[in-house]
Amino acid sequence: MAAVAALGVETSVASVAQSCRKTTVAILGGGMAGITAAQALSNASVSDFVIIEYQEAIGGRAHHTRFGAQKDGSPYTIELGANWIQENPVWTLSKKYSLKNTNSNYSSILTYNETGYADYSSLLDVYEAASVSMSVEAGRLLAENLQDQSARSGLALAGWNPKHGNMAAQAVEYWNWDWEAAFPPEESSLIFGVAGNNLTFNQFSNENNFVIDPRGFSAIIAGEAATFLKPNDHRLLLNTKVTNVSYTDDGVIVYNEDGGCVSAAYAICTFSLGVLQNDVVKFSPELPKWKETAIRKFSMGTYTKIFFQFNETFWPEDTQYFLYASPTTRGYYPLWQSLSTEGFMPGSNIIFATVTNDESFRLEQQSDDETRAEALEVLREMFPDKNVPEPTAFTYPRWTKTPWAYGSYSNWPIGTTLEMHQNLRANVGRLWFAGEALSAEYFGFLHGAWFEGREAGEQVAGLLQDRCAKVYSGKEQCGPRPHYETLHGTSPLEHYNLLNGWAASSFNASKAKRDNLAALYNR
Ligand SMILES: Cc1cc2nc3c(=O)[nH]c(=O)nc-3n(C[C@H](O)[C@H](O)[C@H](O)COP(=O)(O)OP(=O)(O)OC[C@H]3O[C@@H](n4cnc5c(N)ncnc54)[C@H](O)[C@@H]3O)c2cc1C
Ligand SMILES: *[C@@H]1O[C@H](CO)[C@@H](O)[C@H](O)[C@H]1NC(C)=O
Ligand SMILES: *[C@@H]1O[C@H](CO)[C@@H](O)[C@H](O)[C@H]1NC(C)=O
Ligand SMILES: *[C@@H]1O[C@H](CO)[C@@H](O)[C@H](O)[C@H]1NC(C)=O
Ligand SMILES: *[C@@H]1O[C@H](CO)[C@@H](O)[C@H](O)[C@H]1NC(C)=O
Ligand SMILES: *[C@@H]1O[C@H](CO)[C@@H](O)[C@H](O)[C@H]1NC(C)=O
Ligand SMILES: *[C@@H]1O[C@H](CO)[C@@H](O)[C@H](O)[C@H]1NC(C)=O
Repeated sequence: MAAVAALGVETSVASVAQSCRKTTVAILGGGMAGITAAQALSNASVSDFVIIEYQEAIGGRAHHTRFGAQKDGSPYTIELGANWIQENPVWTLSKKYSLKNTNSNYSSILTYNETGYADYSSLLDVYEAASVSMSVEAGRLLAENLQDQSARSGLALAGWNPKHGNMAAQAVEYWNWDWEAAFPPEESSLIFGVAGNNLTFNQFSNENNFVIDPRGFSAIIAGEAATFLKPNDHRLLLNTKVTNVSYTDDGVIVYNEDGGCVSAAYAICTFSLGVLQNDVVKFSPELPKWKETAIRKFSMGTYTKIFFQFNETFWPEDTQYFLYASPTTRGYYPLWQSLSTEGFMPGSNIIFATVTNDESFRLEQQSDDETRAEALEVLREMFPDKNVPEPTAFTYPRWTKTPWAYGSYSNWPIGTTLEMHQNLRANVGRLWFAGEALSAEYFGFLHGAWFEGREAGEQVAGLLQDRCAKVYSGKEQCGPRPHYETLHGTSPLEHYNLLNGWAASSFNASKAKRDNLAALYNR
């Protein structure tokens, strides 16, 4: 019976496939991972691919908009999504395309509460001391493959244990943890939270710059795409929404909302974890249990920037960050960031607040007017001596409701092993996956998407050319990626790909920097 039914499905798939556009590799999504996967294929002389992208332009979550007005009336460009770069392949691309960016100085911060300026900056040093000792402990747990904990327990064991009512300490903790992870310490992995932080912020240097390019951050992705796509290249389908993906051992058929379909030997799906978790794309057959479990296990966070332009800069002009401790609610308009500061967009009178997860969800249900009024009340508390005017421009994105993202970026939940995470990376037959969330080292970041896009592209090229491909671990990998039907609660470190520094050497990091990496993990 089952065999007959299966045969029936295959026959109908085969007959549909005949009317679909044919290609060798279908790349689902034109963000950093999709474009890098296509470039890796192209570099390996696989030029027959089709990139299918929902939006009217490539770039994905490197996403900007026009906002407010400059002196001449033309708008500014602001990033609603990715904004910072660290030294890694994205940094290299920023140099290649002369992306305008400037040092983001986390020491340039002033502290406030509901009474105005309130100097609790000494707490920043107290947190820092605990964080260093938490980090060492996390490194030990990783190296010895021991049980993960929450970052909350890691911090508490290291001596940082703020009382719930100590709102200044809560604000300091928010700035150091949630503002990066989008989740609070109790919902974040100690081991992989700390390791990810180490790898992004300290691996090759501690440079951390903020992008302010009028072309938008996505200019680097468009630039790389132009190295292998011609203008109006027929291999790029924009404004095309994938609704169904059916896969067999022989190939993949991708159905789009416009009624079109693409039949391919392989597909690389780069949709965000949020898209996969929201059941908006139907996979048939249903994804296997091990894959579905991995998708449900990992976390998608929301990070919301709320932009204001005023007719004047009423906050201290030479400071980049302003931390606000709400007297009642942790994470309530906790962090304000000036763009009016020298080196950014001086004279712009633009400032933005950031909220994450629970507060993001709350704000997404509100109207612009409601949110603007709340935020202005906070600014009036922070600057009681100023006459805070109504903003001349105001906007914020609703990432959780954005149908091509369903959230901002992923975070590593407590107790998620490398085995569980490897299942997120593993292919299901001819259907491969890539994207930010699949990077064990750089989840949440553009460079994570870059590394994962490249590796998926290279591996699929290897399969097509009947050869092995070099993967992060430095080994040659042939055929499919390993996955675990049964989880053993362990973290086989060979899945922690950067341990031997291949990824580092492959973008010309200096030997000293690679040694630095090796020392971090001492393996
Ligand atoms: C608010 C915010 C702040 C961030 N800050 C930073 C930062 O400072 N630094 C940093 O490095 N990273 C940051 N990130 C993360 C970074 O943007 C992502 O890690 C990266 O862009 C992910 O690339 P990707 O290719 O994996 O996924 P995406 O960019 O999501 O690419 C997937 C593509 O698939 C398309 N797609 C989705 N559904 C469909 C469908 N049904 N049919 C067809 N196409 C579809 C999407 O439109 C998208 O273009 C931030 C993200 C956000 C949202
Ligand atoms: C493709 O090759 C070019 C030229 O060598 C290189 O700059 C680029 O990084 C490569 N892309 C990938 C994804 O490996
Ligand atoms: C960062 O800001 C602090 C505090 O204002 C300042 O002392 C330091 O010099 C700044 N660093 C850089 C690199 O500008
Ligand atoms: C806010 O700061 C002021 C001044 O430092 C202080 O007196 C007040 O107690 C603080 N409020 C809270 C809730 O801690
Ligand atoms: C993070 O970096 C610190 C400082 O180099 C190191 O001691 C620690 O082991 C690292 N921890 C992890 C989990 O990578
Ligand atoms: C796509 O999936 C939906 C269910 O989500 C189903 O109703 C529809 O028939 C499918 N379309 C194709 C072409 O398989
Ligand atoms: C900004 O607007 C407020 C209120 O409308 C006004 O009082 C203030 O003078 C204006 N500032 C400048 C620099 O024009």
